[in-house]
Amino acid sequence: MRVLVVDHPLVAHKLTVLRDRNTSSPVFRLLTEELVTLLAYEATREVRVEPVRVETPVETAVGIGLVKPTPLVVPILRAGLGMLEGMTRLVPTAEVGFLGMARNEETLEAITYAERLPEDLTGRQVFVLDPMLATGGTLREAIKFLFKRGAADVTCICLLAAPEGLAALKEELEGKNVTIVLASIDEKLNNKSYIVPGLGDAGDRLYGVVG
Ligand code: URA
Repeated sequence: MRVLVVDHPLVAHKLTVLRDRNTSSPVFRLLTEELVTLLAYEATREVRVEPVRVETPVETAVGIGLVKPTPLVVPILRAGLGMLEGMTRLVPTAEVGFLGMARNEETLEAITYAERLPEDLTGRQVFVLDPMLATGGTLREAIKFLFKRGAADVTCICLLAAPEGLAALKEELEGKNVTIVLASIDEKLNNKSYIVPGLGDAGDRLYGVVG
């Protein structure tokens, strides 16, 4: 498993505004999309391509195109949905599948409550979108699920991670073809498993508090 923290002043600036408790939901949503586009630029460096010929107005040129089937993007509902537009802006031909996962706030276990993915992911490159890598439980379950269906490699784009969650994932996924791309590794988890300093509950910040 590889971890890549994208070191760029625009990434750091957008993340700082996201952290601000006074940032409104509409601004939070817009900045999340912009930030994901920047992270996706780095996360897609290894996307599979093949040579293609095109006729320019002057000559034939050899360029590259994305190999089919194109990458599969999987936002983890609910908060990952806020990252989808930022990803598909960069890779508009990607297919999109959905995984609905939530953590039980008492046991912190990940529960899958919805799934809409191809049955067979043999050889597919998969990009998982989940803003907060806290304990790592949700991502671990999602990654295991995708490999079970045959995914060739999994790249997770997250806004933030806690060192505890990254360490737990690393231990479980060492040797697997997994890359985690992040804007920041924060200090720690608090006793409610929130990332500190973090940005709060990403789903609530994106979509408001629902019950
Ligand atoms: N999920 C969030 O939305 N925020 C955290 O800090 C941890 C998990």
